[in-house]
Formats: sequence, structure tokens, C-alpha cells
Amino acid sequence: MQLDREQVLNVLGNIIEPDLKKDIVSLNFVEELIINENAIQLTVNISNPALHAKKRMQEAIKFNLERTFGEDIKLSCEIKGLSATESKAHRKILPEVKHIIAIASGKGGVGKSTVTANLAGGLAKKGFKVGIVDADIYGPSMPTMFDVVNERPSMIDVDGTPKINPVMSYGIKILSIGFFTEQNNAVIWRGPMAAKAMTQMFTDAYWGELDYLLIDLPPGTGDIHLSLVQTVPLDGAVIVSTPQEVALADARKGVNMFKLEGINVPIVGLVENMAWFTPEELPENKYYIFGRDGAKNLAEGLNVPFLGHIPLVQGVRESGDVGKPAVFQENSITSKAFDELAEKFIQELNLLKFKKH
Ligand SMILES: Nc1ncnc2c1ncn2[C@@H]1O[C@H](COP(=O)(O)OP(=O)(O)OP(=O)(O)O)[C@@H](O)[C@H]1O
Ligand SMILES: [Mg+2]
Repeated sequence: MQLDREQVLNVLGNIIEPDLKKDIVSLNFVEELIINENAIQLTVNISNPALHAKKRMQEAIKFNLERTFGEDIKLSCEIKGLSATESKAHRKILPEVKHIIAIASGKGGVGKSTVTANLAGGLAKKGFKVGIVDADIYGPSMPTMFDVVNERPSMIDVDGTPKINPVMSYGIKILSIGFFTEQNNAVIWRGPMAAKAMTQMFTDAYWGELDYLLIDLPPGTGDIHLSLVQTVPLDGAVIVSTPQEVALADARKGVNMFKLEGINVPIVGLVENMAWFTPEELPENKYYIFGRDGAKNLAEGLNVPFLGHIPLVQGVRESGDVGKPAVFQENSITSKAFDELAEKFIQELNLLKFKKH
């Protein structure tokens, strides 16, 4: 029996890459396909390098090919995990951190810090190792949002060099510019001082192995943003906006800043925060107080991915204030929204990696 290449590709085209949610043929993940009579030899890439993920993919391929062509086919199938090698190769600063992502907005008060805290929580809940750098020199929020206002990072010795050891909360490593000032002593960080303090949170800290390091930025597109992109090799930026016109105009500026030549940070996607107001006890009731789908439409217009809607819910604000991010309030509408955001974020970030190649 001579198997037909087109038919084999057709079958493979039904197999979905679990992280990227697209089939392995359109992702160009079938690296090698040699067919000889009833023998099929193929090499397939997947984004998750873990052994169980490879095994699952191998089984999916075997199952689908045998179902179509019968169990007499001879299959030799190698699965390669892509992300580990790829993401390690390109970074000199923090080589043990797989992805460094900035969360920005343009306009203030739209929910950058809330999104940072809850996205970090959503990723940590999935079992990833996550860190947060709170680089908001005007008003650091992470110490409050994670209930660590009175904690201070310790120093540890790493190969003879003293390093700053981040504070830990909900399994997430956190460094905040707020840890380096006295409480109630509103130091205004200015110019070079601010840039230095921010840089030190990357260069003088011991982060260890992390899957994601999220950076909560101050509002705007100012100096601190520029010094960040100059010191830290960002893998991507997430832009937060409300659906409101004034916020969208600033979100657009934010996107454009990262796209500037010489900066070139890919946009993972746009998040629409405060997409509608919902009373927690009546989640079906949605009130579009800041307008509807503004950020979603902006994402389409700018041709960047849309990462999802986050409703305006009293519980989100309250959990931020008491230091337990809403994503950890199980079975709430907000934990669902943030879990979905984390899911979509992982997917778009992975896609971005493959777009570059
Ligand atoms: N989806 C939401 N539902 C309810 N409250 C929210 C939501 N998102 C943010 N908030 C609240 O709105 C306020 C501003 O949010 P946050 O501090 O996250 O914004 P920000 O963009 O980081 O602000 P800044 O520009 O000052 O850093 C906070 O009190 C927060 O709890
Ligand atoms: Mg903030």
C-alpha cells in the first residue's frame, strides 16, 4: 500500500497544538514527513517541552493516523519541544527567566496593576513560576495588592555576590519600588534615581528560574519606560485600556511606543478592563458605563491580539485593597475572567514566538 501524502497531511491537519489552539499543519509544526509505502516517518514540533506534553502529542498522532489508515501502518514519530531552547538562547540578562513582559496602559487608573496582579495569579494557579516587578515610581501598588506592605526583601548570597531576594506572596515572587522607601514617606523618585532603582530590581535581584516575569509600569510613556526597554530585553507588552475614548487614545500611544523602531517590543495583546459593570449577585446584568468593546475594536484596528474583557466588579477593587487578588476568589465571575485572560495570554505569547521565525 502506498500512502498518499496529501491524505496524511489532511489527517495531521486535524490535530490541535494544545497551547496554541491551532492545528499542527497550519502552524508549520510538521517539520519532516517522509512516506514510504505504509511507513510514515515524521518530526513534529510542539511549544511545551514537557515530557507528558510530547507523549500526548505522539499518542494523538498515532491515534488519528491509525484510525484513518488502519493499524498496519508503520509509524515513527519524533516530537520536539520548541520553547525551552528558543527562549533561553536570546537572553543575556536573567537567562533563567523565560518571558519578561511589561504591562502598560498610557492612561492612569485603568487597571494595569490589577491586571498585573491577577494575570500573575492566573499563571501561578496553572503551575507556572511567576514574578512581578512593580516599577511604578509614582504609586507602587503591589505591596498592598499582595498584602506585603510591611515586608522587605532579604539579601542572599549568590556565588559570592549579595543579591536582593524578592518577597513571596501566593507563590509569586515580588519586588516593588515601594520596598525601597519607608512606609508613609512618599518619596518621589525622579529621573536617574528612579531608573537606577528600577534597573536594580532586575540586575541586582535573585529571581531564579521563572516562566513569567511581569512588570507593572507607571502610567504614561515617559522616561521610566524608555530606560526599561533599554535595560531589559522585553519579550512583549500587554496594554490595558478601558473602553472609554480618552483611555483608548492613550492605549494607542502605548502600543505605538513599543512598536517604535529601536524599541521593537512585540504587543502580546490588549486587555479591556472595566468592560462593563456587573453586580456580583446578578452577573447576567451588564452595564456598559464606559462604552462597549472600545479596546476590542482598537485591537482589531491596530492589528494586535485582543486578550479579553474584564468586568468592573466591586469584588475586584475590594480584593485589591485587602491584598488577595480576585483571581484567587474561587468560583467568582472575576476569577473566571482572569483565568481566561491567563489562558489567552499564554496562547498569544506562544504564537508571537513562532511569528518571529
Ligand atoms: N475590573 C475592576 N473592577 C473593579 N475595580 C477595579 C477593576 N480594575 C481596577 N479596579 C480598581 O480601580 C482602581 C485603579 O486600578 P489600578 O490601580 O489597577 O489601575 P492602574 O492602571 O494600575 O493605576 P495607576 O495608573 O495609578 O498605576 C483600583 O482601586 C482598583 O482596585
Ligand atoms: Mg498601577
